[in-house]
Amino acid sequence: MRNYMQFLNPQILCFLFFSALLLCLVETKSTIEPCNSSNSCPSLLSYLLPWDSKLSEIATRFNVNFFDILASNSLFPITPSSAHQILSAKSQVKIPISCSCVDGIRRSMSTIYTVHAADTLASISEGYGGLVSAEQIKIVNAINATNPLTYRGTLVIPLPCTCFDNVNNGGNAIYMSYVVQRRESLGSIATKFGTTVSDLETVNGFGEATVDPGDILSIPIAACSSATLNWYDESMIVPNGSYTLTATNCIKCTCEPTDITLQCVPSGLDVPCYNLRCKGSNLIIGDQCVDLSQTACNVSQCVYRGHRGGKILSR
Ligand SMILES: *[C@@H]1O[C@H](CO)[C@@H](O)[C@H](O)[C@H]1NC(C)=O
Ligand SMILES: *[C@@H]1O[C@H](CO)[C@@H](O)[C@H](O)[C@H]1NC(C)=O
Ligand SMILES: *[C@@H]1O[C@H](CO)[C@@H](O)[C@H](O)[C@H]1NC(C)=O
Ligand SMILES: *[C@@H]1O[C@H](CO)[C@@H](O)[C@H](O)[C@H]1NC(C)=O
Repeated sequence: MRNYMQFLNPQILCFLFFSALLLCLVETKSTIEPCNSSNSCPSLLSYLLPWDSKLSEIATRFNVNFFDILASNSLFPITPSSAHQILSAKSQVKIPISCSCVDGIRRSMSTIYTVHAADTLASISEGYGGLVSAEQIKIVNAINATNPLTYRGTLVIPLPCTCFDNVNNGGNAIYMSYVVQRRESLGSIATKFGTTVSDLETVNGFGEATVDPGDILSIPIAACSSATLNWYDESMIVPNGSYTLTATNCIKCTCEPTDITLQCVPSGLDVPCYNLRCKGSNLIIGDQCVDLSQTACNVSQCVYRGHRGGKILSR
């Protein structure tokens, strides 16, 4: 049985209509996961770019390595110059984050934002694509009249995060926090991410099948796990449609969409890599041998087995 709760986050929006000031209270839903361990776990954010941004800017905004953003979005080439690649406004970018357990709920608190001139709580919230509200930033950072935003001051940006033990319907999964947009329904979101309305309802604990713009849903994404691969000293979970770099960036493991299995091959990155060839064979990691009568083929395949102390293991 999955534990879930919803909490309501009141945001006050003001509408100026003719000369009347109408105050209205808009409540947005978001899914929170209770927790009681100090372990952190992997999760994703779905970030709708509010404006054109370089990959390096997105990486800085969320305090993550841009290689990890490339990997989560299956972007290529994997080179340092990709940091200058510009993604256009309204692109949806997956950001890998780690959830910690803060005050009994799963959260990401590792994003630190440095205040720019002319920033307001609202503009900072907009910069994060609605993943965090102005009110949440205000509360977490105790911003008030005597403790205002200060130029070059730093803020902790609390971001939604769920792991649900990284399982869904008995399979491996990574959960992605997603901000509902105008004209979207649970049905359209389920279709967009290859899941079902009933699965979204179960994960998010929604009593009724309606969502409103600004609500934050947790979306299960099937994932590849190394748990059954018998690796030494290493484990990873990679969401469908992405890859991850490991063994000091020497190895790239992709979660294959067809059968949700990890396929690991040399990354081809310009880094020193040793032991990419299987012992007693001409095959390198990721190779398969079709003709076993060939001398190079005294092993039929060469598969990645993890890494340890700078050594890449294979079999
Ligand atoms: C809290 O810990 C107990 C025992 O370790 C476990 O059974 C329970 O599921 C945990 N609750 C949550 C919300 O993680
Ligand atoms: C602002 O917050 C600080 C620290 O939390 C508190 O000491 C102070 O009383 C608050 N000021 C106002 C005007 O609420
Ligand atoms: C993995 O993603 C692909 C699209 O990239 C999709 O067609 C496939 O159904 C997904 N697999 C699972 C198990 O969700
Ligand atoms: C594999 O084949 C090569 C070339 O014939 C040979 O040198 C090597 O000893 C063989 N290794 C094993 C483990 O049989």
